[in-house]
Amino acid sequence: MRKLFLLLIMIVFSICVNAQKAENLALTPPMGWNSWNTFGTDINEQLVMQTADAFVELGLKEAGYEYIVLDDGWMAKERDENNNLVPDPKKFPGGIKSIVDYVHSKGLKFGLYECAGNQTCAGYPGSRGFEYQDAKLFAEWGIDFLKYDWCNTENLNAKGAYETMRDALHASKQPIVFSICEWGDNEPWKWAKDIGHLWRVTGDITNCWDCEVGHGNWSSRGIWPIINLRKDLRKFAGPGHWNDLDMMEVGNGMTDSEDRVHFAMWSLLTSPLILGNDLRSMSNETLKTIENKNVIAVNQDVLGIQAYCHLKSLELEIWVKPLANGEWAVAFINMSNDELLLSYDWWKHPINDQLTHKQLEKKYKSYSMYDLYASKNIGLTNKNFESKIKGHDVLLLKLSPQK
Ligand code: GLA
Repeated sequence: MRKLFLLLIMIVFSICVNAQKAENLALTPPMGWNSWNTFGTDINEQLVMQTADAFVELGLKEAGYEYIVLDDGWMAKERDENNNLVPDPKKFPGGIKSIVDYVHSKGLKFGLYECAGNQTCAGYPGSRGFEYQDAKLFAEWGIDFLKYDWCNTENLNAKGAYETMRDALHASKQPIVFSICEWGDNEPWKWAKDIGHLWRVTGDITNCWDCEVGHGNWSSRGIWPIINLRKDLRKFAGPGHWNDLDMMEVGNGMTDSEDRVHFAMWSLLTSPLILGNDLRSMSNETLKTIENKNVIAVNQDVLGIQAYCHLKSLELEIWVKPLANGEWAVAFINMSNDELLLSYDWWKHPINDQLTHKQLEKKYKSYSMYDLYASKNIGLTNKNFESKIKGHDVLLLKLSPQK
């Protein structure tokens, strides 16, 4: 009887131990780069190595970008005779471990893609039925991040499938950031907090300000359709568990000002900042946007509070995000194509966050305003604020209390 009792305790203990994701990871939104938006399945080891070099040479590493994530298309079409996944020998003749080592040698981290279904979205072997075997292999290769997709998952329960891979990763004993990619279909924000560190909230992003492109049973969306569809999920985000608005399209064809808005919004909404452009050939203006340390600091603020829309009209949207130390990030976004003359009284519509009960406090008399993209102080909130904002551009401020 005593033995039985002990056995029971051990089983319960092992279930508890398994039912965990790696902790203390992604305490701020993960930052990095992913191959999919620009390269699709046209990837290879030179691309990974050159991207790692670019991280260091262009200062992206110093700005906080850390993960290089290889998306779909890295595998051969079949598993080997032992059912192990095999890297495509033409694209990755040196295997995956050697590029992981290269990325690590630059002081960066490596992420890989797999899928919960029988096949990945691009038709390569999925992990269904091989979760523990694949997680063990990933850990042997030294990966730090797994993006886990949701194609070809007929009859699978999403929560259960992601729990299985979470437990498999946990059993591998590596600290691996687990990126859930089921497009928001099963509302992961309601169940994934203890399973993954980030979860996609929509189908795939596409490179436009305000379009939606149908693909039969799903749509890809531009920047504003993604934001508008999922803007009410802020209470689910926080350190270690983030709403993922998808890899960014900055540098992939929108105007520079639209890119600034895109980058500001992903930062304000505490989305992971995963670049999706070709780092080897971007313009100086793109680099300036993605490397702006002030804007990145808004995204990486330790409180991890997602922004909300404070005021909205046809031409203007004002988004606000409470930051540590009583500071605030405030974005004035010109939604129209024409220049906007802004005239704003800070105290007419007081900023008051219903979720966190933080508010812009009059007791400070005024806050100083710092323009985050221009990196300059622009005055105090004690008088009517006037400015000009170009079409589809943003004025992104940090407000700091004056004592
Ligand atoms: C899905 C994902 C994308 C990408 C592709 C790869 O569409 O949502 O982000 O990973 O699969 O096939």
